[in-house]
Amino acid sequence: MKILKFSTYEEMSSAAADIFAKQINIKNDSVLGLATGSTPIGMYQKLAEMNKSGMIDFSKIKTVNLDEYYPISPENNQSYRYFMNDNLFNHINIDKDNTYVPNGSAEDADEECRKYEELIKKLGGIDLQVLGIGHNGHIGFNEPEESLYLYTHKTGLTESTMAANARFFSEDEVMPNAALTMGMGTIFNAKKIILLVSGKSKREVFKQLVTDRISTSCPATLLKLHPNVTVLCDSEACGE
Ligand code: F6R
Repeated sequence: MKILKFSTYEEMSSAAADIFAKQINIKNDSVLGLATGSTPIGMYQKLAEMNKSGMIDFSKIKTVNLDEYYPISPENNQSYRYFMNDNLFNHINIDKDNTYVPNGSAEDADEECRKYEELIKKLGGIDLQVLGIGHNGHIGFNEPEESLYLYTHKTGLTESTMAANARFFSEDEVMPNAALTMGMGTIFNAKKIILLVSGKSKREVFKQLVTDRISTSCPATLLKLHPNVTVLCDSEACGE
């Protein structure tokens, strides 16, 4: 696991966008694995700027997102589908039919997960995956547990994750307490992974990630087993 430290969130986001731009320019029909949450927003803004200035072309790119709340309608402004349209897809020249997010309104969640896993395989696997990290070490919605799922599955959200994500919901909105998420195996099949860690509130989990032994009680530590992972962090997250 390679660790790159940046002074600011801005610099970290630019470096992450450069890694994506390089991937897109090497392979113009890459399959990109995307994440939601606040951390990748800066990177998405940079990618939109690069697209506008003609540095990168998304017309043949395909994307698969890590996860989606369940149940939730894709039109709901709290859905991850809405987030992706709003923060990236509406600002770049991507064909939205080539962008995939697990369907949070599927009647049969298990069937949706099975189909999503198949879809990723059919696309040829993920070339480059971006990840954020939860305060409890979760990756996607693979929450700390005694054992973890390999492939895309439905999962309950822990209290800590519900509390962290509550900031996105207003008082009168009900937050779903479950999600559909890629499993650790789905994520591990990505050829390259970048993990973004930003802000003081992530300092403790960053320390755990770097110093702790591999354990399902901090799912992110499993990334140490993947042959091509780069962690990009800002100084607030990694301290000295
Ligand atoms: C989002 C996701 C989550 C977030 C994590 C960090 O698709 O899978 O694992 O990456 O919760 O969220 P932020 O960036 O909001 O701190």
